[in-house]
Amino acid sequence: MVGLQGAGKSTHVREHLAATHAVVSKDHWPRARRREARQQRVVAELLAAGRSVVVDNTNPSPAERAALVAAARTAGVPVRAVWVDTPPATCLARNDAREGRARVPLVGVHATRARLLPPSTAEGFDRVDVVRPGGTPPAG
Ligand SMILES: Nc1ncnc2c1ncn2[C@@H]1O[C@H](COP(=O)(O)OP(=O)(O)O)[C@@H](O)[C@H]1O
Ligand SMILES: [Mg+2]
Repeated sequence: MVGLQGAGKSTHVREHLAATHAVVSKDHWPRARRREARQQRVVAELLAAGRSVVVDNTNPSPAERAALVAAARTAGVPVRAVWVDTPPATCLARNDAREGRARVPLVGVHATRARLLPPSTAEGFDRVDVVRPGGTPPAG
């Protein structure tokens, strides 16, 4: 998954992927140290066990996605990016409406926005899907 905080990634995962994929997210371990390494290990273990996996984090930059693409390559499975391309203003409004730890600091959303580069097959993805609110993505 790729998308800002509040874009609707977890909702998309729940509605379209959770029935068929193991869901991994650093958000599941908010207090753990070395969450990145832990996530990478869990993904590798699930793939090695033959499971399909979806990684539900913001994953905004190619650098952050590279390890996941590599994990899929190592396991010999296809890898797809699903970019939930919700307008930042909508993400910010949804974030505002959240409670407690689910609400992230405004600066966090802006920082992710600054780092976000749309996923591309040039990174090694076999497929890139774009999810936009209220519309079917254009072909290609
Ligand atoms: N397609 C949608 N239309 C309207 N609201 C949505 C949609 N998808 C998600 N939401 C709402 O937006 C908020 C953030 O959604 P969530 O899936 O948790 O985003 P993310 O995982 O990207 O941070 C939630 O309150 C959710 O109910
Ligand atoms: Mg989420």
